[in-house]
Amino acid sequence: MMFQAPKGVPEYYPPRSAIFLAVREAFAKAAANAGYSYIEVPVFEDTALFARGVGESTDVVTKEMYTFTDRGGRSVTLRPEFTAGVLRSTLEHNLHQGQLPVKLWTTGPAFRYEQPQAGRYRQLQQFNVEAIGTEDPAVDAETIAIAWSGYQALGLTRVRLLLNSLGCRNCRPQYRGALQEFLRRLDLDEATRQRVEINPLRVLDDKRPEVRAQLADAPLIPDHLCASCKSHHDKVRTLLEDLSIPWEDNPRLVRGLDYYTRTTYEFDHPLLGAQSGIGGGGRYDGLSEDIGGPPLPGIGFAVGVDRIILAIEAEGLAVRTPPRVAVYGVPIGEEAARRMFTLVHELRAAGIAADMAYGSKGLKGAMKGADRSGASLAVILGERDLAAGTAQVKNLATGEQSAVPLAEIVTTLKERLTS
Ligand code: HAM
Repeated sequence: MMFQAPKGVPEYYPPRSAIFLAVREAFAKAAANAGYSYIEVPVFEDTALFARGVGESTDVVTKEMYTFTDRGGRSVTLRPEFTAGVLRSTLEHNLHQGQLPVKLWTTGPAFRYEQPQAGRYRQLQQFNVEAIGTEDPAVDAETIAIAWSGYQALGLTRVRLLLNSLGCRNCRPQYRGALQEFLRRLDLDEATRQRVEINPLRVLDDKRPEVRAQLADAPLIPDHLCASCKSHHDKVRTLLEDLSIPWEDNPRLVRGLDYYTRTTYEFDHPLLGAQSGIGGGGRYDGLSEDIGGPPLPGIGFAVGVDRIILAIEAEGLAVRTPPRVAVYGVPIGEEAARRMFTLVHELRAAGIAADMAYGSKGLKGAMKGADRSGASLAVILGERDLAAGTAQVKNLATGEQSAVPLAEIVTTLKERLTS
């Protein structure tokens, strides 16, 4: 029997895996440039952290978590996202006792038991940024700018930024009440009616045309923001304008996780069809208290690496990836292979990426390997070369070949590669 990867789990293997790394790299660079440090958090956590953090009324918690009891009888859950774990770790290790905001980035897989389809996976890859410990709207704009420069560095030109504010614990309840009052008068199925009582804002996100049609006159949150939320929102928008980052106000934008307050945003890519969300984030000023911590505001985002790869491909972008190696060794015969093995290691030690033909391939097969490796130079070593203490260095682009003394080969190759 041949095994297959689990359902809904994408894999990235060469050459496409180079795009995967390029995406991570682009965002890591943008985050590091803005003073964010790396944090490594667990792949699984206490189930209650996500139930309380992400929210009991969300699809993620009620339907999508990979939860199991470990051998010690504890209920643990594979992380469906990073924010709750990053904040838990920040509090546990007292990072918030130092300079604020605490600025952190991380990346890796998250797990959601969703119905798999193009761009929607059960193991999904995120790049995640959090800024913890400030209410300054400039930091909201900073997180958006980091995501934006990541997309730009990858050459994506069709990304749209959608922006909204979800208010705070002072103004949201009043809005929630007004929305519920409106929704209770509509003609809705039982499941949606229940949602109106539990999580009415999510109803605004309903994609079904018969529901949408009824929502045209729904009260919208920007009209219900308190003065301080309104001023916060205006400041974020002013700063985005200062940075020339274009956005669209979307008063119906609600997010799939419960912790959001005030600024919320999503990045969307028009060529991706149904799963067009390539990133999203926002403020979570009450999350720390929800998970047992002190009052500690925060904001962050996660981008979906899998979907960004699809967006790069949909835009037809060529991601420049470096050749696998710079030098490729072609030994003819056993003794030459042994000498080449050492030479390749000397080259690597000198900082030159090098590989060689393994498994007595013969000249033709080994030269094919050299071409496929992306190397610009091949080093050919036969018995006669060995006896003479030289090797043949071949420029794989021009075909030029010359003998170089083995004693000088590392320096010579280094010179040729940099000239
Ligand atoms: P989220 O919107 O649930 O936010 O996920 C962020 C991004 O992850 C989405 O925009 C999408 O690109 C990607 N994503 C989510 N689910 C899937 C899936 N099943 N398959 C493929 N890609 C997916 C969060 O996770 C928040 N923790 C972001 C955040 C950080 N908010 C504040 N800080």
